[in-house]
Amino acid sequence: MNFAEAEKKIKHLRSVIERHNRLYYVFARPEISDREYDRLYAELEALEKLSPALITPDSPTQRVGGEPLREFRQVRHSFPMMSLANTYSRDELVRFHERIQRLLSGEKFSYVLEPKIDGAAIALRYEKGLLQLGSTRGDGITGDDITANLRAIPSIPLRLAGDRTPEIIEFRGEVFMPRRDFLALNRAREEEGLEPFANPRNAAAGSLKLLDAREAGRRPLDAVFYGAGEIAGINLATHEEMLAALKLFGLKTPPKYWKCLSLEEVFRALDELKAMRPDFPFETDGGVLKVNERGLYAALGATAKSPRWAAAFKYEPERAETTLKSITVQVGRTGVLTPVAELEPVFLSGSTINRATLHNAGEIQRKDVRIGDRVFIEKAGEVIPEVVSVNIAARRGHEKTFKMPESCPVCGGEITRRPGEVAHRCENLQCPAQLKRWLRHFAARGAMDIEGLGEALVDQLVDRGMARNPADLYFLKKEQIAGLERMAEKSAANLMTAIEDSKKRDLWRLIFALGIRQVGAKMAQTLETHFTGLDEIMAADRETLEKIPDLGPVAADAIAAFFKMERNISLITRLKEAGVRWKAGSKTKSGPLAGKTFVLTGALAGYSRPEAEELIRRRGGRAASAVSKKTSFVVAGNEPGSKLAQAQKLGIPVLSEEEFRKMLDE
Ligand code: IVH
Repeated sequence: MNFAEAEKKIKHLRSVIERHNRLYYVFARPEISDREYDRLYAELEALEKLSPALITPDSPTQRVGGEPLREFRQVRHSFPMMSLANTYSRDELVRFHERIQRLLSGEKFSYVLEPKIDGAAIALRYEKGLLQLGSTRGDGITGDDITANLRAIPSIPLRLAGDRTPEIIEFRGEVFMPRRDFLALNRAREEEGLEPFANPRNAAAGSLKLLDAREAGRRPLDAVFYGAGEIAGINLATHEEMLAALKLFGLKTPPKYWKCLSLEEVFRALDELKAMRPDFPFETDGGVLKVNERGLYAALGATAKSPRWAAAFKYEPERAETTLKSITVQVGRTGVLTPVAELEPVFLSGSTINRATLHNAGEIQRKDVRIGDRVFIEKAGEVIPEVVSVNIAARRGHEKTFKMPESCPVCGGEITRRPGEVAHRCENLQCPAQLKRWLRHFAARGAMDIEGLGEALVDQLVDRGMARNPADLYFLKKEQIAGLERMAEKSAANLMTAIEDSKKRDLWRLIFALGIRQVGAKMAQTLETHFTGLDEIMAADRETLEKIPDLGPVAADAIAAFFKMERNISLITRLKEAGVRWKAGSKTKSGPLAGKTFVLTGALAGYSRPEAEELIRRRGGRAASAVSKKTSFVVAGNEPGSKLAQAQKLGIPVLSEEEFRKMLDE
């Protein structure tokens, strides 16, 4: 294929991929399977590797990348990003309507009502159809340049669809984290000992503030657009037209809007919207009412903060009042104590609530919550029920203040508060509550994957003193297991096999299973690739750990501290004694090319084959003779052989001699 042919093919593939991307992420109407999509994508990647000069920033392969930033650049919005004061009453909407009628002195107009999306406000600027800038609202005048993070959101087009793209158009909308993904992300964070996000909006806003776009790209984010800032080269007479144009350009718009010709219609639409809220993937706390005719906006004007052509109507959050019967304390895997409100059951937004979180002792004090109080509960972000306040007027005098227990409610162990942390913790590592969660985590699917070792079994093992740490699992006898409740001969045998099988897991699974604070599956994998094995990880100090990319000081501290503890050192020794044989780490040497495998094909002008291989090895890399999925790079010299085709088939990056030389020099 010559250059012109390659260029044509690449352009064609890009537009096909962009179209399928749109169908999948924006319109939820895929036409091809994931596999077919992956194949198209791999083909484009391979062609671009062959002709790197043809790579452009809007290529679907270039979504995520770049070095992590130190801080975000500040950008001034071409038009201020205003906001709207919230209205809770229909009377205020009546006044809003009357004011518009007055200002327009009888001129005819209509409204559009849209869901108010509870996300993080952003602006996207496209010039000649290409995404040039993405920013946060900030103070409305200047915001953060978060282009790299926004590029990683798959429903945001890098290039606008259609061929009638305006010279300049800036869209405004909201980034959100779909409810379902939010719940999954929070579960994963709790597993990793990280603080869960309070609600989907915080999760979305927090993700946009990540300085590493690759990390942001791993967060499940989506975006909806409902407006425009600067526009040049296109005329949009009504808001409806704007929504239609947004859609044609390939952006996601609100899934439903209502065109209304009177206030009565607006009120009816508000009722319909309220009923539909649970069906939307994003949190909706109300509706935004807008004058449809954009030509009237100038006449309506704006106050210092808000335009007069729009109003935000918020539904009262659904809240219920009930009696707080008692406060119990739960102990998590890392020993954190969480106070939980035990409630007189009450119905709230579709379900019966018996318990709600009180977060921590500080929150209880701040809200002055007492046992026996009448309390108001709300679904925070419509997800997790929370005690928001106390009905002080209903106090009778017999209510009791709550004190965090001084010893662990499960084991009686000492409770402490670490500096800088709000949480109280049980420091007893043998605490049955901690131990149970630890064992469940150790045996979980993503960790050592011991099938059949569920909650009921773990409870019995701990309560009967049969397991005091994960290594004890490997010393259990079949007769012991068969003697437990609800354990037949057969299931005991199955469990023995599952435990035996788990002795040969990858190193990263073991690291993850150990339940080190801050160390999730992903970080465990990172650790595996940077060390030759567990012994080296155990010996690493904080400074060494901190140098590893993606591993911050907090995690480095947690890992170093974990392996300094006597009980953890002996745990590893016992695991070894039990015959647990994890594989070695994948790093064999240190150096800039550590962990990378190269395959050479064709003749290089500047090096002989043995010379090139030696240079790779001296930098910690590996030189292999055959291409496989594990190959990191194929270096293609003059007249490359079949290894090149193999690399393209597997989607492995191909380096020219020039690129190879640069890599060696780095
Ligand atoms: S139109 C001048 N439409 O809510 C502001 N805003 O309090 C016009 N929002 O700043 C904004 N959904 O961040 C508009 N369908 C929607 C919206 C929406 C959410 C946000 C936006 C705005 C704030 C208004």
